[in-house]
Amino acid sequence: MKKRILVTGHLPDKIMTNLSKEYEAEINVEDKPLDRQKLLYGIKDKDGLLSMITDVVDEDMLGRANRLKMIAQFGVGYNNIDVTAATERGIPVSNTPGVLTDATAELAFALILAISRRVVEGDRMTREGRFRCWAPMLFLGREVTGKTLGIIGMGKIGKAVAQRARCFKMPILYHSRNRINISEEKQLMAKYVDMKELLSQSDFISLHVPLSDETRHLVGSQELSLMKPTSYLINTSRGPVVDEKALLQALRRKKIGGAGLDVYENEPALTPGLAELDNVILLPHIGSGTLETRFRMAAMAVANLIAGLSGQVPPNLVNPDVLSHRRL
Ligand code: DGY
Repeated sequence: MKKRILVTGHLPDKIMTNLSKEYEAEINVEDKPLDRQKLLYGIKDKDGLLSMITDVVDEDMLGRANRLKMIAQFGVGYNNIDVTAATERGIPVSNTPGVLTDATAELAFALILAISRRVVEGDRMTREGRFRCWAPMLFLGREVTGKTLGIIGMGKIGKAVAQRARCFKMPILYHSRNRINISEEKQLMAKYVDMKELLSQSDFISLHVPLSDETRHLVGSQELSLMKPTSYLINTSRGPVVDEKALLQALRRKKIGGAGLDVYENEPALTPGLAELDNVILLPHIGSGTLETRFRMAAMAVANLIAGLSGQVPPNLVNPDVLSHRRL
């Protein structure tokens, strides 16, 4: 008998066809998340789950999934899954690291350039017919080249952003849970500093930490108050890393230069008032949203799912403790 799987998001057709040959697959083909009731119902009789970052896979849900033997997350972040509860139940969990590094770093840089050179504002003005003629002081932005970039979280994506910053001759300050080795620091021309120095000295601050209890509201009113009035905050990590209400106040009062956001505290909802401001760019969580990357993420998630369901160790296992007592 074929194993049963639930795939909660629409993946590239070729990948879906292959999965359907191998498994009895229930697939959510709509471009919106399954609501909780459907997810609870769908997961009950499944052996495998290919989950999206929008699925809340908590203890209650796992308690009802008696047959579940593998959760393959489509995404590098997996804060939507209660990994401790999965481990206790013997369920391996995997993610898709590495394949979205370049795409996410590109988007962080797109936001750096777009917010400082007022690309979105300029587009709006031109479309609305407000561009009447060229003038020397028209619509001035701030230059990126040579400005200091502060990177919070120097993992794969943080490093990829640092590499791109070298083309713009940007000195780099960074703060991270773990300091990277000296040779890498030299190669990236990055200096390890504490949060206070990073916040007060950087012209751009780009966030690349996973969401956890330690990083929730890592940037709040106190941190924002340390930033220069001309500096910009860029967030392509997870929304709750920033206290969005505090950010709204800082942007409204022009306490900082601006912000480029791809993620939100209560995604997809925005803190009321944010969308009315010109000094913020708002994107719909598309950090890894390229054709190439989404294909690679899907292939990786499927490889993890297949390995997990055939009793092997999934290549991108995030809870290795599970191996001593996994469900088979
Ligand atoms: C991830 O993989 O965590 C991304 O945020 C999804 O695009």
